[in-house]
Amino acid sequence: MTTILKLGGSVITDKDRAEALDGPALADAADAIAESPVSDLVVVHGGGSFGHHNASEHGVSKTDGSKDAAAAVEIHGAMKTLNDFVLSRLHERDVPAVPVHPFSAAKRDGAGTLELMTTQVETMLDEGFVPVLHGDVVAHEGKGVTILSGDEVVTAVAQGLGADRVGFCSTVPGVLDDEEAVIPEIRSYDEVADFLGGSESTDVTGGMAGKVRALLDLGAPATIFGPDAIREFLGGQDPGTLIDGGES
Ligand code: IPE
Repeated sequence: MTTILKLGGSVITDKDRAEALDGPALADAADAIAESPVSDLVVVHGGGSFGHHNASEHGVSKTDGSKDAAAAVEIHGAMKTLNDFVLSRLHERDVPAVPVHPFSAAKRDGAGTLELMTTQVETMLDEGFVPVLHGDVVAHEGKGVTILSGDEVVTAVAQGLGADRVGFCSTVPGVLDDEEAVIPEIRSYDEVADFLGGSESTDVTGGMAGKVRALLDLGAPATIFGPDAIREFLGGQDPGTLIDGGES
């Protein structure tokens, strides 16, 4: 049973200060992972206050690239620094966490389609490790490097490994309806189009519309929940919002 847990950058860092951890939140997440009964666990984290400011300083985004090696190394370095913090908090709790840096294992083609190698992740799991990946820069045909978000890494790893369950720990407790109540389950976009915007609308709702659409196509059940619910998710429950578009 392969489970992927994404730790949102804004959960584990202090977004108001550059390169600052949210120490207590990261410690809580590490505790939950250390106590988890999951056999094959992959962790992916975002950037939060790491990486994003370097990326915007250099004008690099998911679509705008840079051919400046120093810029690529700086953004990648910030994400590696955060990855080191995550690994050390896990090691302190005897979690056999190992790093996987997507910059060295992925590419985008000219159309922006991502290819991420996952056979090494599979072997790491077989050998009893907990691979920890992250948002990163990625070589992009014709553009130099662009940004690869943690969510894209989750999708690619989930598909590469044929993951059974995927959990997104974010700062919100789930997908919210128009009265700010958590929607427990979403099986098609039509069910939530009224809250998230019609299927034609662009992603103006804090990224949630795009995220829900992507997760409906994931081919594995995905759950979006808040920082207090990591234990519940790893324990096999579906706190927050379960998004399941069925087999794709
Ligand atoms: C950040 O990853 C990648 C960068 C190099 C900037 P994400 O975009 O997934 O980070 P969060 O979770 O939204 O902060």
